[in-house]
Amino acid sequence: MKRRRLLTVLSVIAILLALFDLALWLWPKKEAAPPAVVETADPLIKALSAENQQKFKENIYGSEEKALLADNNFIEANLEQYARYREFPAALRLRLVNDGIVNEQNKDLLLQIVQDPYYIYEKTAAYLSAEKDTVRERVEYVNAGRDKEAYVDVKEADLSKGILVNINKYYHFPEGYSPDDLVQIDAKYGLQSYLRREAYAAYEEMDAAATADGMRLLIVSAYRSYDKQVSLYNSYVANDGVEAADTYSARPGHSDHQTGLVVDVLSPTTDFSDFYQSPEAKWLAENAHKYGFIMRYPEGKDDVTGYEYEAWHFRYIGRETAAKVYESGLTYDEYYAYYIESRTNE
Ligand code: DAL
Ligand code: ZN
Repeated sequence: MKRRRLLTVLSVIAILLALFDLALWLWPKKEAAPPAVVETADPLIKALSAENQQKFKENIYGSEEKALLADNNFIEANLEQYARYREFPAALRLRLVNDGIVNEQNKDLLLQIVQDPYYIYEKTAAYLSAEKDTVRERVEYVNAGRDKEAYVDVKEADLSKGILVNINKYYHFPEGYSPDDLVQIDAKYGLQSYLRREAYAAYEEMDAAATADGMRLLIVSAYRSYDKQVSLYNSYVANDGVEAADTYSARPGHSDHQTGLVVDVLSPTTDFSDFYQSPEAKWLAENAHKYGFIMRYPEGKDDVTGYEYEAWHFRYIGRETAAKVYESGLTYDEYYAYYIESRTNE
């Protein structure tokens, strides 16, 4: 008895399902949204090959592609590729396709890379090959020039940038360079040393503000000549070996100290190893930019700057730029690459 009832119920369900299918089939089909009509009489489309004009007629190509036709970088032979990578913004897509950079294997990663706020087109291939966990890490690493071989792939620094000049493991001073406006700093500020006039004036203001806030700053190193860096670097190498020395000391010609725009600042009660924990270090990290100084080798950015964290090393770049660098949270190497060096971002 039970079995028969079950069979009846199942039959009814089967019939209902069949009726439902039939109803769906008979129901008037909803029209697909009409494709955006592209005017194929457009002279730019008419100038294309018959085959490509046909593809516009058949809506294989649409308004996205039409918008590219008037661009100077448009190459008809690449039209199919442009259509394939529609996710990329138009102007960028033309370049990425024309330069043979985008492909099916890299397009997902590339799409994330081009959205990085500090993306520089010329470095696209390098971003793709950098082996880093995140897209931000890839971009900052390459922007800072770190994909190149330190001290091998080097260029002369661009001194025309004045106080903004960038000096690192890839940019060096021309032989014999020393700033022509060095002034000796007052003994009350620390060890006998020199700074460029503008940087010294800014330092005096910073010191006054720090003192007013109960801090005690002490300059332990400022301008260093090429020769001074030779003896310093050599002594580090003698003690620690080249590999270790390169993590905390610049090679001669590559030191930020040769700019005459740098101070190494400690407090009288600390040394290099514990300064980072002092109120003075905290004060400088939070306030130095107001006087035109930036922390040149921030914590956790060894891989980007090429040097260990230096809580004491402050580089003068002027108030305006220092405030921007501070706000951006970028290392100076990356800031320089994106905002100062890269012509695309001028
Ligand atoms: N300590 C920094 C990197 C220099 O030697 O210039
Ligand atoms: Zn230093």
